[in-house]
Amino acid sequence: DEGVVRRDRFSGGPARSFLSSLAADERIFEADLEVDRAHVVMLAEQGIVDDDVAGEILTALDAIEVDGHGSLPDGEDVHEAIETGVIERIGADGGKMHTARSRNDEVAACIRYRLREDVLAAIEATLALREALLETATEHTETIMPGYTHLQPAQPTTVAHWACSYESAVRRDTERLLDAHERINESPLGAAAFAGTTFDIDRERTAELLGFEGVVENSMDASSSRDFLLETTQALSTHATTLSGLAEDVIVFANRGFVSLSDDYSSTSSIMPQKKNPDTLELVRAVAGDAAGEVQGLTTTLKGLPRAYNRDLQRATPHAWETVDAVAEASSVAAGAVATAEWNDAALAAEAGDGFSTATGVADLLAANGLPFRTAHEIVASAAERLEDADTEESDLDAIAAAAGTVLEEPLESVVDLEAVEAALDPVESVASRNSRGGPAPDEVESQLAGAREDLTAD
Ligand code: ARG
Repeated sequence: DEGVVRRDRFSGGPARSFLSSLAADERIFEADLEVDRAHVVMLAEQGIVDDDVAGEILTALDAIEVDGHGSLPDGEDVHEAIETGVIERIGADGGKMHTARSRNDEVAACIRYRLREDVLAAIEATLALREALLETATEHTETIMPGYTHLQPAQPTTVAHWACSYESAVRRDTERLLDAHERINESPLGAAAFAGTTFDIDRERTAELLGFEGVVENSMDASSSRDFLLETTQALSTHATTLSGLAEDVIVFANRGFVSLSDDYSSTSSIMPQKKNPDTLELVRAVAGDAAGEVQGLTTTLKGLPRAYNRDLQRATPHAWETVDAVAEASSVAAGAVATAEWNDAALAAEAGDGFSTATGVADLLAANGLPFRTAHEIVASAAERLEDADTEESDLDAIAAAAGTVLEEPLESVVDLEAVEAALDPVESVASRNSRGGPAPDEVESQLAGAREDLTAD
């Protein structure tokens, strides 16, 4: 770690500010103090540094904490500045703090220490969103709504089925973040520059003092790997992508009058006085773009880096901070917007059957009564074509009967009870009949909800 040792030789120059990460390191100021404390306690316990010197260093670290990041002396980074601060306070003995370590293992420990906490906050945000979606679902198992594919009316479903679909996706996002957290939560401290140390250090002890679950075994891996940053940023980006779909759906539903956002999650126009816009969700949708960009920046920075430590790594870290902040905030905002949104049951019901959206159910019914599904599909498709004619006076049932007449040798009523066809054309009946596992029928959604609630409690 030549930067510190030869500080006198490399103390200035035109590239000084380009080299420095001191400002960005504010994020890991507290973490660095904790890492310093753990390291010094371990050095004293191992008899590498005298107890009284260790005590003086710990006192100086406390004073530095009180004074804050802003009052640190100049330095290439927070690690160097804090060490300088310790030496300024207690003299040359302060330099014993850096025995048996390097800034390379130190910075890796600081990043993991801080990111661990930030990822837990992001996980909390996903849990709150899941709670909000499950609340919505619980209230709306019977609220019929149009379901879309290709943004075209497809089949009626319920608000609960829709909300549970996003809750399931967010549940997997939580799991990916928990998984990333597990691998962040290992201590690289004691790896030194990359090649370990001659001192009789106790890596398990510093890991324990810092609350890590274990150590990153190989010292070269410990000081130079950043795949934990990449997987965390990717998991966050995946969650942001889930959020962007949810946001887009709600924006479209608001456009159709199906849902109304609370004023707290809306914005207005500086010129059009009547406007109520879903700006918060548009920003949530945009965060997915930022997150994908950060993943790209981080991946490209890490690609092809040789072992062991390279200074490129200093520019890798901020990608993770940017992402975790933006995505956790987007997740909380989405939770708030969902929790406070008002669903317009009447508007949803009025459009649930539009676009002949119960057609699939009619085809299913004909097939259940013995017709090959392909023949049933052909009859209902031809009925749909008749109904598309703007001048037609035909009811849906008449159109189906007429279409059947062109395909079948016998009348429709000898294949199927016409009342059953009427029922299949009703969006409420249509939803109730789709009770296959995971389907939208209210009872089926109730059981999905029960499973989702159990998982949420477990997470
Ligand atoms: N500030 C650096 C970083 O963020 C840590 C210092 C390691 N510097 C060095 N010259 N080896 O990665």
